[in-house]
Amino acid sequence: AKAQTAHRIVLRREIADNIVEITVKAPMVAKSAQAGQFVRVLPSAKGELIPLTLADWDAKAGTITLVIQGVGASSILINKMQPGEYLEGIAGPLGLPSHLHHYDPKKETVVFCAGGVGLPPVFPIAREHLRMGNHVTLIAGYRTQGALFWVGEGERVDAIKAEFGDLLDVVYCTNDGTFGEKGFVTTPLQRWLDDKKSVNGRKIAEVIAIGPPLMMKAVSELTKKYEVPTVVSLNSIMVDATGMCGACMVPVQIDGKMVRKHACIDGPELDAHIIDWDKFLPRFNQFKEQEAESRVKHGL
Ligand code: FES
Repeated sequence: AKAQTAHRIVLRREIADNIVEITVKAPMVAKSAQAGQFVRVLPSAKGELIPLTLADWDAKAGTITLVIQGVGASSILINKMQPGEYLEGIAGPLGLPSHLHHYDPKKETVVFCAGGVGLPPVFPIAREHLRMGNHVTLIAGYRTQGALFWVGEGERVDAIKAEFGDLLDVVYCTNDGTFGEKGFVTTPLQRWLDDKKSVNGRKIAEVIAIGPPLMMKAVSELTKKYEVPTVVSLNSIMVDATGMCGACMVPVQIDGKMVRKHACIDGPELDAHIIDWDKFLPRFNQFKEQEAESRVKHGL
């Protein structure tokens, strides 16, 4: 009975320190997944639910790929699991798919800012834009060279570069300058915004930023100044992803009024420029405490 309900891990690799990529059997999810969506994973019968953005999927093979950074009890649990082991449950695909617009690839580009583990959720969205024929500029930002992943021969970033050629430009940066440009994802972005809001002559049509909350805030503040439409994906703040726990509440301003949005229901993608970041960011400390508590509870 287990083989029917549970989800076998078919591949596992540690792609960076404390970051694991797993490919799991989940045929129903793989069949209907769309860029920008996530799943709710129950690692074991006793574990806690954890929402994870789909990093990739293969409808033919009936598998989905997830990238997990070991921070809370459930993610640490999943990160230790090996091929042949089973995840107890996977629900999804959940969340609204990305809103995709057509742009002129000769004159416009869609800029992705991916910070660290923001790259896996960015990947399917960027690929979808490329499949539509849009030009994409991807800024992949890492802490340091040792934290790099999905770069190099046969890896995902190089694979879409090979597949889509001139439609994709990739710019790497590291905080310490050990690989690519020295700086943050905002470093090249700022330069392009100053250069008539364009990258190599292509106007920036929109920016999609996924990564640590402070990075998303920094990108949002920057692009707001230049009035470039910007979307962030807030999957990282969800807890139960059912609309019940309230953890993913995001204060947004619409027509001067404060409105509450739930990342798991109204998102995970939200218009970055309507988010009240100063009210929103302090909530992250609260999660860190919850995570620490849950780790203690599970003896991790
Ligand atoms: Fe709990 Fe959205 S994650 S309400």
